[in-house]
Amino acid sequence: MKILLVGASGTIGKTIDAELSKRHEIIRAGRNSGDIRVDISEATSIEQMYQQAGKVDAVVCAAGNAYFGPFDQIREEDWYIGIRSKMMGQINLVMLGRDYVQDGGSFTLTTGILAEDPIRQGAALSMVNGAVNAFVRAAAIELAKGQRINVVSSGMVEDAVEKYGPYFPGHYPIPMWKVVSGYVRSVEGAGTGQVIRIYE
Ligand SMILES: NC(=O)c1ccc[n+]([C@@H]2O[C@H](COP(=O)([O-])OP(=O)(O)OC[C@H]3O[C@@H](n4cnc5c(N)ncnc54)[C@H](OP(=O)(O)O)[C@@H]3O)[C@@H](O)[C@H]2O)c1
Repeated sequence: MKILLVGASGTIGKTIDAELSKRHEIIRAGRNSGDIRVDISEATSIEQMYQQAGKVDAVVCAAGNAYFGPFDQIREEDWYIGIRSKMMGQINLVMLGRDYVQDGGSFTLTTGILAEDPIRQGAALSMVNGAVNAFVRAAAIELAKGQRINVVSSGMVEDAVEKYGPYFPGHYPIPMWKVVSGYVRSVEGAGTGQVIRIYE
């Protein structure tokens, strides 16, 4: 398969890359690195990425961020960071990518455990994760041409423990091979409309 991987240089993205590139051709995209530069918070940038990539069999996104900080200090514009990036960025990857994904191809998005198990300071991440999970379930029933869509929602991954560990008291670090298995299941399997939870 030819797979467009957005966020290929990231903690999760590079592990997906290492696994999927064993069996597939990977086109790597990122804001500051990769074969194609893209800022998913800009629809025009996504259009340009697809024009450069051409037809692909699968799109995988392991990119997108949101505001992180104390709840009582979040301003309206802070909520919009995640809405533009992790939420609309991923929604636009699907809406603008449908004509570039082959019939029977797939989209795989990324959310996370905070949709269901919030932590302090993570309200904006919880919000967009929940929205993207709902989008995926809804999009699956209307996507045409046999295209599939799933989202991988993992807990804090083991390679990010140093960075995020103190914010996730009592959470288990998720082994990278388990996280990656969610993406493999979505891309190479047959399921659609699934929130693939990797929480243990
Ligand atoms: N780390 C965890 O424990 C964890 C757990 C569950 C879910 N998640 C979610 O998984 C996703 C990836 O997390 P991560 O820890 O792997 O992040 P990361 O290490 O910061 O990597 C993010 C990747 O996405 C790219 N990127 C960031 N913003 C972008 C944008 N606006 N447009 C295009 N590319 C962009 C980056 O490219 P450049 O470096 O070139 O900018 C990089 O390749 C995030 O949505 C995160 O919330 C993470």
